[in-house]
Amino acid sequence: MGSVEQLAVVRGFARVCQEGWGQGWHERNGGNLTCLLTDEQVGEARPFFREPGEWAPLTEAVPRLAGRVLLTTATGAHLRNVPGDVAGNAGMVEIAPDGAAWRMVWGFEGGGRPTSEISAHASCLAARRDAGFANASVVYHAHPSNLIAMTLLRSWDDVSLTRMLWRSMAECIIAAPYGVAVAGWITPGSAELAAACRDAMAVGNALVMAQHGVFCCGSDFDDAFSLLHTLDKAAGIYLSARAANGGSDEFANGISVSGLRDIAQRYDLPANPKYLEE
Ligand code: 13P
Ligand code: ZN
Repeated sequence: MGSVEQLAVVRGFARVCQEGWGQGWHERNGGNLTCLLTDEQVGEARPFFREPGEWAPLTEAVPRLAGRVLLTTATGAHLRNVPGDVAGNAGMVEIAPDGAAWRMVWGFEGGGRPTSEISAHASCLAARRDAGFANASVVYHAHPSNLIAMTLLRSWDDVSLTRMLWRSMAECIIAAPYGVAVAGWITPGSAELAAACRDAMAVGNALVMAQHGVFCCGSDFDDAFSLLHTLDKAAGIYLSARAANGGSDEFANGISVSGLRDIAQRYDLPANPKYLEE
């Protein structure tokens, strides 16, 4: 292995940044991405590690991730620039033995630092793993236009938004059987955001934040990217149908709740029953 950039996990990371940019989800430095590395991946990257930086605190401790290494985008980095210069726009951080802090071990060249939402990413991964999803490894935060636009129209809760997205197209419940959690306005990068992520990921794998964007957690890059992509596509269909319906979302022909139940049964989905009540 001649460089960290050659590692398959680093190439997969860069590809998500590129494709998310292509989707229009990453204006300027919008969005961020984290991957929890396996021991094997860390072993391959370790020869390239530099003298570790200073420990910096997480807003909430993640004992579940003690000693683990995260590959993450840099704060202020434009995600479309990641593929051309991973070390200048991303890097690796090690989590402290008590899970309460991180320090830089690779990348962030030119004085960079991890995303301002590193605590939210760590809390997502820890909560998902604590909930029994031992392979939860990728956290993807993006600013997809359709979902954000939906949050401007009214205030949603977990049930109303999940149900509306699921009813908009058949694939949505299949891609997102845990539904979506919803938060109102939260300051980006704040401790409150990390706490909201922790609570959401304890019960599902997606959090929509009003007027801001989405956090998705998955077992790999495809899992997290495709979850976000499907949710935003369903939101786009909802918005188009609403516009074509004179502004109303009283649709004549959305998928019925019994139709959703049939999909859940047919595909043996772990669909949360609270979203399937009449
Ligand atoms: P960072 O540049 O710190 O990753 O922040 C981007 C963002 O989307 C904040 O919500
Ligand atoms: Zn954001």
